Amino acid sequence: MARKMKTVLVTGATGGLGPTVVNTFITAGWQVVATFRNADKFAAIQGTRPSEELIGHHVGDLCRANDFAHLTSRLAVRHSGFNAIVHLVGGFKTGDSPEDLDEMLEVNYLPARIIGHAAETLVEQGGALIFISSALTKLPVITRPFGLEGYINSKLALNGLSLRLAKLFAGKIRVNAILAGILDTVANRAAKSDGNASLMSLESVAAPILRICHPEGQTTGHLMEI
Ligand SMILES: NC(=O)c1ccc[n+]([C@@H]2O[C@H](COP(=O)([O-])OP(=O)(O)OC[C@H]3O[C@@H](n4cnc5c(N)ncnc54)[C@H](OP(=O)(O)O)[C@@H]3O)[C@@H](O)[C@H]2O)c1
Repeated sequence: MARKMKTVLVTGATGGLGPTVVNTFITAGWQVVATFRNADKFAAIQGTRPSEELIGHHVGDLCRANDFAHLTSRLAVRHSGFNAIVHLVGGFKTGDSPEDLDEMLEVNYLPARIIGHAAETLVEQGGALIFISSALTKLPVITRPFGLEGYINSKLALNGLSLRLAKLFAGKIRVNAILAGILDTVANRAAKSDGNASLMSLESVAAPILRICHPEGQTTGHLMEI
C-alpha cells in the first residue's frame, strides 16, 4: 500500500516568505495545505500545480477568533491530521506606543496563540509546529533600535508562547520558533535604500523549517537563530 504523503499546513502562504516555503515542501514531496485571504495571490502560487500538491483554504481575518475557528473546524473535517504546521501569518510596523504594541500583538501573537492551541487536535503525534519570530528579540534591551518596541515585544510574546507550547505538548508535538533576520522579500528590497547585501535569502529560512518538520526530527523548545 502506498505511504500517505506528508502534509503541512502553511498559514500566511501568500506573503513574502510563503511561496518559497510552499515550493520547498512540495519539492521535498510533501502535500501543502495553504491559507490565503487574497485569491489572486494564491492563484499566482498555485499556477499549474496539480491540486493534490497544493490545496488552498480561503480565510477571513485570522486575527479574529471567529474566523480562525471557522478555519480550524474546516481543516479538521477536510484533512485527517497534519505532520506539521508552519505559521507564517505576521506583520511589521514601526512604532513604540501602546497602540503600536496592540497592533503588533494582534497580528504576531493572537493568531499564533489560536493556531498553537488548535495544533493539539490538528497535528499528528510526533508532528511539528513552527513559528517565525525575529532575531531582534535576541538584542539586549539597551541596544534595541528605537521605533521597534511594538514589533519586538510582540515577537517576544511569540517566543514565550512557543516555549510554553513546547512544554505543554512535550512528547506529542515539537514546537520551535525561528528567529529570522531581515529577509530578502520584495517588500524589504523596496524598503531598503542602502543595498540588499544584508538581506537573508528566503531559501536559507525555508530549508531549516523543512528540516525541523521532518517526522523523525527531535528538536523542540528551541528559539533558533539562523
Ligand atoms: N520579512 C522579514 O524580514 C521577516 C523577518 C523576521 C520575521 N518575519 C516573520 O516571518 C513571517 C513571514 O514573513 P513575511 O515577510 O512573509 O510576512 P508578510 O509578507 O507580511 O506575510 C504575512 C502573511 O500573513 C498574512 N496575514 C497577515 N495578517 C493577516 C490576517 N489578519 N489574517 C490572515 N492573514 C494575514 C498575509 O496575507 P496577505 O498575503 O493577504 O497580505 C501574508 O500571507 C511573519 O510572521 C514575519 O513577522 C519576517
